[in-house]
Amino acid sequence: MTQTPQQNPEPIDVVIMAAGKGTRMKSSMPKVLHRLGGRALVSHVIDTATRIGARHIVVVTGHGASEVEAALQGAAAGATPAFARQVPQLGTGHAVQQAMPHLPEDGTVVVLSGDVPLIGEATLRALVAQSAGRRLALLTIRTPQPTGYGRILRAQGQEGEGEVLAIVEEKDATAAQRAIDEIYTGVMAVPARLLKSWLARLDNKNAQGEFYLTDVVGFASVDGVPIVAHRTEDATEVLGVNSPSQLAALERALQLRQAEALMAQGVRLADPARFDLRGTLACEADVEIDINCVFEGAVSLGSGVTVGANCVIANARIETGAVIHPFTHIDGGKMGVTVGAGALVGPFARLRPGARLGPEVHIGNFVEVKNSTLAAGAKANHLAYLGDATVGERVNYGAGSITANYDGANKHRTIIGDDVHVGSNCVLVAPITVGAGGTIGGGSTVTKSTEPGALTISRARQTSFPNWQRPKKKS
Ligand code: UD1
Ligand code: CA
Repeated sequence: MTQTPQQNPEPIDVVIMAAGKGTRMKSSMPKVLHRLGGRALVSHVIDTATRIGARHIVVVTGHGASEVEAALQGAAAGATPAFARQVPQLGTGHAVQQAMPHLPEDGTVVVLSGDVPLIGEATLRALVAQSAGRRLALLTIRTPQPTGYGRILRAQGQEGEGEVLAIVEEKDATAAQRAIDEIYTGVMAVPARLLKSWLARLDNKNAQGEFYLTDVVGFASVDGVPIVAHRTEDATEVLGVNSPSQLAALERALQLRQAEALMAQGVRLADPARFDLRGTLACEADVEIDINCVFEGAVSLGSGVTVGANCVIANARIETGAVIHPFTHIDGGKMGVTVGAGALVGPFARLRPGARLGPEVHIGNFVEVKNSTLAAGAKANHLAYLGDATVGERVNYGAGSITANYDGANKHRTIIGDDVHVGSNCVLVAPITVGAGGTIGGGSTVTKSTEPGALTISRARQTSFPNWQRPKKKS
């Protein structure tokens, strides 16, 4: 279903309620900071508000306010929202009251919850269009399990399309009202000037002694302001997070959506139910991803890349045709990692920030690479460490060899020229340069730079005693 994009005549301002405690999370962390797809719940909502073109975004904070505010200030991809503190928390109407001083009168206010993370951009645009600068637009949904939610009361019967009269909260509802299966999702769009006047009229004479935002519906009805209920069919987008179980369910829903979107682009996922993306994943053609892989931060995979089972890949660029074998851990952190075209990595390899592998590089099992550049065709196939190193083309770096890059105070670089062969179990004590084409004998500890083409051996000479008799036990 495509809609012609229509310019809303009035600016959109968003209020995100996020002051509630979230008791059922049983966590010391404020609820809206719990992570979905690797990001705070409330950050998803802020993103969506940004995408609908919000002029102002006000987050209402209360429980854990300073923590929430600090988290959102730091992670500002776009503009940091404004914050309105609600202390104590006297209900949803009271929450929105705290935000209103931040908002001009000429806009349409969209009210969202920080714990309803998957609310959709298209749905909000449609809701704003329904409000049209003069109506109260409520987002509703029909559900077989309406318990706990505010019910939509309509003029003609309880099922039909009759005019909306009010929202009645579960705790204030009669048995007949509780049977209504159309509920308020907690999302509304309303002209600011109307909302301001209604908020001023709220009271807390109800079963919970709270100032209910939902009471504005009754005022609209009395004032003759048209009320429209915009029904969504997509339960996932209006689901809230109240417990770890609900958080996990939404996580799976989000992951499935992301997996479907990637598969629609041609990415071959072995199992969309065993795929986790906590960031962004850009894939060229013919990418294959086996089960149980986790992608974090910004990852991009070139054409024909295959990723084996049980890999974790964060902040990395993997070039065309590279193969990441199972159980490989790649974390580029702030510096990033690049894996060159046709490179082979793993199984059980670890690439840390600043690892830059050229084309056709091989990194085998139990090899760790940090802040090091490996030129085309270099190989470190077994049990090795390369830290702060510059490694030339076609270098063969033996099993068990390490760069000793840290002297206890400072880090130093190791430079290994093209075509060097480093034997097994060597220690290269940085700063040091191994000249191109040189060979380091197995078991050497090398502390001085070596000339190109030289063979360097640095270990005790082998001594053998013929016919040596081991001591015998006395009888
Ligand atoms: C509210 C609606 C109900 C609707 C339901 C949908 C009211 C009175 N009722 O229920 O009709 O079906 O949402 O989920 O609005 N919050 C604050 N400050 C407060 C109270 C709440 O910021 O003083 C925040 C919460 O953190 C949460 C959101 O508002 O993000 C909704 O609060 P919650 O208690 O979950 O909703 P209900 O009041 O139960
Ligand atoms: Ca409540």
